[in-house]
Amino acid sequence: MTTQPTQLDAAHFDSKARQWDDNPLFRERGLKIADAIRQAVPLNRGMTALDYGCGTGLLSFPLKDELGAILMADSSGGMLEVVDEKIAAQGVTNMTTLQLDLMADPAPTQRFDLIMTAMTLHHVPDTDRILSIFHDLLNPGGYLCIADLDQEDGSFHGPEVDVHHGFDRAELSRRAAQAGFAAVQFQTVFSIAKEHDSGTQDYPVFLMTARREDA
Ligand SMILES: C[S@@+](CC[C@H](N)C(=O)[O-])C[C@H]1O[C@@H](n2cnc3c(N)ncnc32)[C@H](O)[C@@H]1O
Repeated sequence: MTTQPTQLDAAHFDSKARQWDDNPLFRERGLKIADAIRQAVPLNRGMTALDYGCGTGLLSFPLKDELGAILMADSSGGMLEVVDEKIAAQGVTNMTTLQLDLMADPAPTQRFDLIMTAMTLHHVPDTDRILSIFHDLLNPGGYLCIADLDQEDGSFHGPEVDVHHGFDRAELSRRAAQAGFAAVQFQTVFSIAKEHDSGTQDYPVFLMTARREDA
């Protein structure tokens, strides 16, 4: 009997949250993506930001002193509990958390100067819809920064998991333009090596940056 692939739901990420920051690869990935955002976007303390699918905040904590208010949003309450504890432990004053799944919940009424999302887009079933929501959530001139896997053969998560198998850059660029974004650019920011029975396979991670340019 073949089993149908299933999505990784909030309960899955709840169960991973306490150990998430123990993984040096996750920590290094967050730092590398943060560095690339720093290079690509003129960050300043007046910028409001949304980190969508923030997990434990491995992307936003390194950037917190270079931004204004940061909304940390995730569908996993377990991940957000860890973020809340880190906010309290570090005395962070410019971060708040929100349990949010933009595929199911109403979008916040707030608007942002920067939306960043790391390794989350492949978990969101409807790419066009989320890009369009991100566009609506940005102020004119605002930046979208998406870090995710380049297109892969499905072996990153394995056949039992129903996610996008990374993204073709040209295709994602086309979808971003269709959602109203301009100045779409890509760079490679990290590579994840995974051991399989057949040997080691590398999975590059891109950063896509784009701007909402309409008035
Ligand atoms: C692979 S983890 C990445 C976490 C973090 N951005 C990082 O780089 O360490 C994916 C995150 O996306 C969240 N997520 C998955 N689907 C989501 C959705 N539809 N809405 C909001 N968050 C989602 C998960 O709960 C999880 O925290």
